Amino acid sequence: MQKLLVTGASGFLGWHLCQLARSEWEVVGTYDRQQIEISGVEIQQLDLTDRDRVAQEIDRIAPDAIVHTAAASSPNFCQSHPAQSYQINVLAADRLAQICASAQIPFVFTSTDLVFDGTQPPYLETAPVSPINTYGEQKVAAERAIRLAYPQASICRMPLMFGMAPPTANSFIQPWLKALRSQASLQLFTDEFRTPVSALTAAQGLLMAINIPGILNLGGRERVSRYEFGRLLAEVFEFDLSLLSPISQQDLPMAAPRAADVSLDSTKAISLGYNIPTLRQELITISAQIGK
Ligand SMILES: NC(=O)c1ccc[n+]([C@@H]2O[C@H](COP(=O)([O-])OP(=O)(O)OC[C@H]3O[C@@H](n4cnc5c(N)ncnc54)[C@H](OP(=O)(O)O)[C@@H]3O)[C@@H](O)[C@H]2O)c1
Repeated sequence: MQKLLVTGASGFLGWHLCQLARSEWEVVGTYDRQQIEISGVEIQQLDLTDRDRVAQEIDRIAPDAIVHTAAASSPNFCQSHPAQSYQINVLAADRLAQICASAQIPFVFTSTDLVFDGTQPPYLETAPVSPINTYGEQKVAAERAIRLAYPQASICRMPLMFGMAPPTANSFIQPWLKALRSQASLQLFTDEFRTPVSALTAAQGLLMAINIPGILNLGGRERVSRYEFGRLLAEVFEFDLSLLSPISQQDLPMAAPRAADVSLDSTKAISLGYNIPTLRQELITISAQIGK
C-alpha cells in the first residue's frame, strides 16, 4: 500500500479522512495539541509551524502523498489572532507544498468557500477571490503561495461541513443537537447560504483530488440557508420545529465579518466522480450513526 500523510487527524475533517483512507492507504495522521488514537492509523504529534521538525518527520515518514487538513479553522479566532493563525494557515501550508514539490508527490490543500465575499454566487473555480475576513485572506495567501511553490498541487475549496463528532473536534451541528436535545431554542440565519456536505463526502472528494492538480470545488449540490438546514436536521432527528427561530446575520454581530452566500458550483468535481448524497440522506446516515 502507498503511504498517505494526513495532517490534522485530530480535527473534524482529518479524522473522517483517516477513517476513510485506511482501507486503501497506509495512513499516518498528525495532531498538534489533542492526542488521538485511530485504529489502523499511525499517529504522530507534529507542530506544523516547527519548520525543522516538519522537514525531519516528513523525511522519516516518506509519504507518497500529503493531504493537509490542519489549520486554524475558526474565522473568529483568525480575526482576533492574525499573526498566530498566519503561521499555520499560510506558512505551514506553503512549507508543506515546497516539501511535496521537492519530493514530487501529490499535495492536497484544504481551502475554503470563504475566499469569496458572498455577493456573486454560485462560485466556480475560476471566479476571482474576494475574502472579507482574516481567515479568508489567509487561505487566499496560502493558495497563492502553494501555486507558486508547486503548480501541480491540488487546492480543494471546502464548503461548510457537518457530521459525526470525533473525540477531539466538532462540526456546527453538535451545538445545535445539544441545544435541541435540551429543548433550548436555536436562532439560525435565514440570510446566510452555503452548499454543505458531510465530512465523509468531503473526505471522498479529497481522496479523489489527490490525482487532480489545480483548484477544485468540493461543495454540495444543495444551496441552503442555515435556517433551512436546521429545519431539515430537526425533521430528520425528530425535534420540535418550533424550537428554531429565524434571524438575520445583522442580529448577531461576530468578530469576523460573515459572507452572505458563498455557495460553490462543484460541477467540475461532480463530472470527475464526486458523489454527493442529498442533505436529507446525509443527515439520515448521521442520525443512524449517532442516534437521535
Ligand atoms: N469545518 C468546516 O466546515 C470547514 C469549512 C471550510 C474549510 N474548512 C477547512 O478544512 C480544513 C479542516 O477543517 P476542520 O474543521 O477539520 O478543522 P479543525 O476541526 O479545527 O481541526 C484543525 C486541525 O488542525 C490541527 N492544527 C492546528 N494547528 C496546528 C499546528 N500548529 N500544527 C499541527 N496541527 C495543527 C489541529 O490539531 P490539534 O487539535 O491536535 O491541536 C486539528 O487537528 C481546514 O483547512 C479548514 O480551514 C473547514
